[in-house]
Amino acid sequence: MKFLILNGPNLNFLGIREPAIYGHASLKQIESDLDQSFDHELSFFQSNHEGALIDRLQEAYYEKIDGIVFNPGAFTHYSYALHDALTSIQIPCVEVHLSAIQQRESFRQTSVIAPACIGQISGFGKDSYALGLEALLKHLEE
Ligand code: DQA
Repeated sequence: MKFLILNGPNLNFLGIREPAIYGHASLKQIESDLDQSFDHELSFFQSNHEGALIDRLQEAYYEKIDGIVFNPGAFTHYSYALHDALTSIQIPCVEVHLSAIQQRESFRQTSVIAPACIGQISGFGKDSYALGLEALLKHLEE
C-alpha cells in the first residue's frame, strides 16, 4: 500500500523550534524512522504554504494513495481549504500532532481538519506519526 506523510507549516523546523514542546528530532529523522519501521511505500512532503499542501493532496488522488497521515501544523485550526481538499479526494486521513493540542491554548483546541479525517492522534511526540500510520493500516485492513 502507498501512504503520504504530509506536514504543514513550521514542521521543517522540528528539532529547532520549541524543543520542550515538539522534541529534539528533526523532520528528516522522523521520516527516516517511519521508512525503516513500515514495510509500505511512503511518500513524504512538507510545505509552509497552504496551496502547495492542497496541490499535494490532489496529486495523491491521481496517484491512488491509499491513506494519508497529516500534521497540518497551525493550519489545523483555521484552514477550511485543507478541510475541503481532504473531503474532495476521499482518501482516509489520520490527523496527527506531536503536542497534546487539547491541553494547550484555546485556539489550538479546535481542529477544522478533524471532521474530514477518520481520527486524530495527538500528544505522543514524534511517535504520533507511527501511531497514526498504524491506525490507518488497521482501518484499511478492516
Ligand atoms: C502541531 C500543533 C499546532 O497547534 C502547531 O501550530 C504546530 C504543531 C503539533 O504537531 O503539535 O505547528 O500541529
